[in-house]
Amino acid sequence: MMLSKKYPLGFFPTPLEKMENLSKKYTDYNLYIKRDDNSGLASGGNKVRKLQFFIYEALDKGCETIITAGAQQSNHCRQTAAACAKAGLECHLLLGGNQTENYTGNLLLSHLLGANIHFTGDNRKGEDLFSLKQKLEEQNKKVYVVPYGGSNLLGAYGFVDAVKELKEQLSDMKLKMDYIFFASSSGGTQAGLKLGVDFYGFKTKLMPISIDKLGYGDLTLDEAVLALLLEGQKTLGIDKKYTIEDATLIRGYDSQGYGVITSNEKYAIKELAHSEGVLLDPVYSGRAFYGMLDHLKSNKIKKKSNVLFWHTGGLPANFYYSKELR
Ligand SMILES: Cc1ncc(COP(=O)(O)O)c(C=O)c1O
Repeated sequence: MMLSKKYPLGFFPTPLEKMENLSKKYTDYNLYIKRDDNSGLASGGNKVRKLQFFIYEALDKGCETIITAGAQQSNHCRQTAAACAKAGLECHLLLGGNQTENYTGNLLLSHLLGANIHFTGDNRKGEDLFSLKQKLEEQNKKVYVVPYGGSNLLGAYGFVDAVKELKEQLSDMKLKMDYIFFASSSGGTQAGLKLGVDFYGFKTKLMPISIDKLGYGDLTLDEAVLALLLEGQKTLGIDKKYTIEDATLIRGYDSQGYGVITSNEKYAIKELAHSEGVLLDPVYSGRAFYGMLDHLKSNKIKKKSNVLFWHTGGLPANFYYSKELR
């Protein structure tokens, strides 16, 4: 079974905690947090789960070089660099933007982790992956491509697997979870959670907060997620007819665009930090947490319910955005 073919990279299960102080403040709800910011690999994050599947496959195919792509402050790229270091693989990162004097946040960490960094200007979603692959192959390297954000079906398996982990934790705690809020940006986390929920027969409502209002290629993100669901359904043998409703993101919190930090993200980061001592990031988890707080404050979800925030990591980006966050 594909779900067992993973290379161990992280600390699992990640902790599941009640947010006691925040639950006292938002009295209509019981609030919990799943700490994938503590998943290991050079300061954690959701991509560790996906990388366990990619690194297994890369080693299995005899590849010694990994390439992937993202924004300059990509958490995915930083975690890929750490995974490559651990597995003894050469890492190449295609990062949007131009060469800069001042390396900070995730870019600094990717550099320290030994990745070869290629700056790609306006291209931050892997547009140059295949031309780099060709170049490296001309140097006789056996290359494995991890897609943008790690969001193909193999990467999504990381979150199918994560649903099993959560289900076991909840069963030990004798708890049910009515809603799960999380950041969705390249779609792999969302598709994996949806497939996992259906595969393991877990009753909950997924609340994917859109981070990046742009899709990629010709597809909106909803369409890209649906394509992953349809592919995964066949492979996993899930007896369901998926439609675009199963892949729809919650929009509106992304209106300023990707990586633009507003008073919303700043408010959300401070709210969680001051109440629970937990740090979010300004691009992904901060935006998603703001979306959740907005749902709680205006009772957009059922009162008295149990609500989980799936913390997907991203801590290093706070240092890059230090001016906006003061
Ligand atoms: C901190 C963080 N949260 C959430 C996400 C979104 O995950 P996905 O790309 O699987 O939608 C990312 C992706 O880069 C991330 O770095």
